[in-house]
Amino acid sequence: MTEQTRVNIVEIGPRDGFQNVRDFIPTALKIEIIEGIISAGVQRMQLTSFVSPAAIAQMRDAEIISRHCIPRYPDRQFSALVPNFHGARLAQACGYREITPVISLSETHNLKNVNKTHRQSLDEIARIRQSFPEVHIVQDIATVFGCPYEGRMATPPLLALITALTAEGIDEFTLCDTIGVAYPEQVLSTLNAVRSAFPAVKLNIHIHDTRNMGIINSYLAAAWPVDAIQTSLGGLGGCPFAPGASGNTATEDLVYLLHAQGMATGIDFSRLLATAKHLHQHVGGSYSGHHLHISARQKDFNP
Ligand code: COA
Ligand code: ZN
Repeated sequence: MTEQTRVNIVEIGPRDGFQNVRDFIPTALKIEIIEGIISAGVQRMQLTSFVSPAAIAQMRDAEIISRHCIPRYPDRQFSALVPNFHGARLAQACGYREITPVISLSETHNLKNVNKTHRQSLDEIARIRQSFPEVHIVQDIATVFGCPYEGRMATPPLLALITALTAEGIDEFTLCDTIGVAYPEQVLSTLNAVRSAFPAVKLNIHIHDTRNMGIINSYLAAAWPVDAIQTSLGGLGGCPFAPGASGNTATEDLVYLLHAQGMATGIDFSRLLATAKHLHQHVGGSYSGHHLHISARQKDFNP
């Protein structure tokens, strides 16, 4: 690995992290955390999601957060998760140049998550793409490695789903381990299978740490290399429609590892960790990050 190896981190804590917190987090505190992450040098971030308040009430301030951040930080690449056309239209009106529709490889999870069959979601994504051609789509595919309802997932249906999505003009995908069941060989063989079937698409990865596989899977994907890795500050996260879901790979843990291995992220580790600790102190939830729990009696290490 050379000094020059650059890894693109996409911070998703303000979306995947906050969505699984039961009590409403004051909007001002969300913005404070987002701005802490920005000041640590993070370039790409999912700020929120435009979802039904009946589905996830925590995200009901999506518009306020977006209208605060998008004009203030024009040099950053922000995106928002959208479960349907309605959400995409709201995101586009707020000024997003990138959005993330979500479809699950498991049709059962897709029905629980967005109340749509695969066919209905594909039609919705096609409509979004045709209606907002100026907005770049980074397509999330959930439950790629396993589903709480259908179990372990296979690669051929994933390739079929990506075939259908590329036919709609989608050229960037994030493979999501929604319930944290992926293991290294599965991550690498899945990435290789998608890359050889679709050499031109951009591929990102999104890993939950439920079974202590977050850091190894995320690191191997970085070294593979994927185009971007999604991580969550503090390791806060989880899909409310996947029973027992828990947090993502923690951004600060991955940044520590990448820097130690001579890879560059453009992120100031100390500032990022300070923001993670601030989040942990003020927002209750399940955090998978290790740096949060290091005793104050230890010296600070910053690779
Ligand atoms: N944003 C805000 N409100 C929305 C909306 C959106 N994106 N989509 C629908 N709504 C509103 C509708 O206006 C309607 O409101 P009304 O009852 O006042 O008329 C209501 O929600 C129901 O609309 P409908 O189209 O029937 O949606 P649904 O009940 O089938 O729910 C989703 C579908 C996709 C909106 C809902 O399942 C959802 O928001 N899921 C979120 C999934 C998610 O974020 N998971 C975690 C990340 S993977
Ligand atoms: Zn997730």
